[in-house]
Amino acid sequence: TGGLTTIDPGFKNTGSCESAITFLNGEEGILRYRGYAIEDLAEKASFLEVIYLLIFGELPTEEQLTKFHNDIKEENHVDEDVKKILNGFPKSAHPMGVLASLTSALTAFNPDAVNVDSEEDMYNAIVKLLGKFPVLVAWTMRTKKSKPLDYGDDSLNYVENLHKMMFSKPNSEYKVDSTIIEALDKLLILHADHEQNCSTSTVRIVGSSHAGLFASISAGISALWGPLHGGANQAVIEMLEGIKADGGDTKKYMAKAKDKEDPFRLMGFGHRVYKNFDPRAKIIKKAADDVLEQLGIEDEVLAIAKGLEKEALEDEYFVKRKLYPNVDFYSGIIYRALGIPVEMFTVMFAMGRVPGWIAQWREMRLRKEPIGRPRQVYIGETHRPFKAMSER
Ligand code: SDX
Repeated sequence: TGGLTTIDPGFKNTGSCESAITFLNGEEGILRYRGYAIEDLAEKASFLEVIYLLIFGELPTEEQLTKFHNDIKEENHVDEDVKKILNGFPKSAHPMGVLASLTSALTAFNPDAVNVDSEEDMYNAIVKLLGKFPVLVAWTMRTKKSKPLDYGDDSLNYVENLHKMMFSKPNSEYKVDSTIIEALDKLLILHADHEQNCSTSTVRIVGSSHAGLFASISAGISALWGPLHGGANQAVIEMLEGIKADGGDTKKYMAKAKDKEDPFRLMGFGHRVYKNFDPRAKIIKKAADDVLEQLGIEDEVLAIAKGLEKEALEDEYFVKRKLYPNVDFYSGIIYRALGIPVEMFTVMFAMGRVPGWIAQWREMRLRKEPIGRPRQVYIGETHRPFKAMSER
């Protein structure tokens, strides 16, 4: 057993690294990126500024931000052959699977993103990914909906360009309500990093083998896809729609969530670290009210969500286990109001999380961390002689 006597399932009590990027205090519901409070960044910064802050550690000057954006624009196209890969997927393919494949395939088109040892090599790979990822996100969605692809517009800011590539209408000038861009920008900031969560830990351990940036991010996309992690934002809306279709009886579903025999979980509730309100959920809940009001949208499932939250906060089972709404509980209501299809919700989480994954991958490489290779406590058979077929 290599001298080990205890293991830590789910790494509930294991620290995997030292990091200077994101600070969480689960008891007090605090989240800071490089020391800046998430509340300030969500209110006052742009997603591109937060991308720069997470990766390089400081809020950019005007000049630094302009250069960073220009370097990204140099890379905001993908090899035309990517269309052949996109069209090769069945329409039933989940966008997260398509995106994980395309991101990893980028290495095939950009092999220089594998052996990145110098800071300059890393920077080049990073701006390549930040340029190409929004294109892959938009093209994945449009291909699934059999819509013509949009190549973006360099005169737009980073989030507007993503939105244009996703939603522009052929043969008509691209226009968008600033409410939508502001909401999207805020949501992407709120999802940008979250220290050593499941998908970020995946990016770090894959990156520790020097598999390269794109392959590491591709692995992170697959980890994020799970309904216990980023896939929860899609699962929340499906759950809320199910409750609505079943007459909106939230008490019945609260009972199911507490019934150990019933596999049903209240999706969007609970968190490994936050034993208080997830600060992101608070901001998103308010943004959901604001966006729906500004866009004049009534969404019945928002009332159901608020009803569930109210009941849970007064329910002994939930209170005892310190289960509060997390980042995924209200985000889908905004994505839906922005016209994003539900199967793309987790892709939007990935779009937001890419800067955090990049920052954590870069920190791990710059600190020259060793390849991740934990041990185990062996509980299998002791040594035994081979059995011939006739003896089995
Ligand atoms: C994200 O790690 C991160 O930072 C993730 C994330 C990020 O930004 O990267 O914040 C994003 O993934 C948010 C979480 C999204 N997932 C969900 O909303 C799915 C529903 N939530 C649960 O599956 C759960 O709460 C987790 C996965 C979020 C946390 O799981 P843990 O820490 O392993 O907790 P657990 O499953 O051991 O639960 C502890 C107790 C159990 O009851 P007991 O065995 O003690 O009696 O709480 C219960 C659980 O049954 N419980 C729930 C519940 N979540 C936990 N019961 C009903 N509904 C729930 N949602």
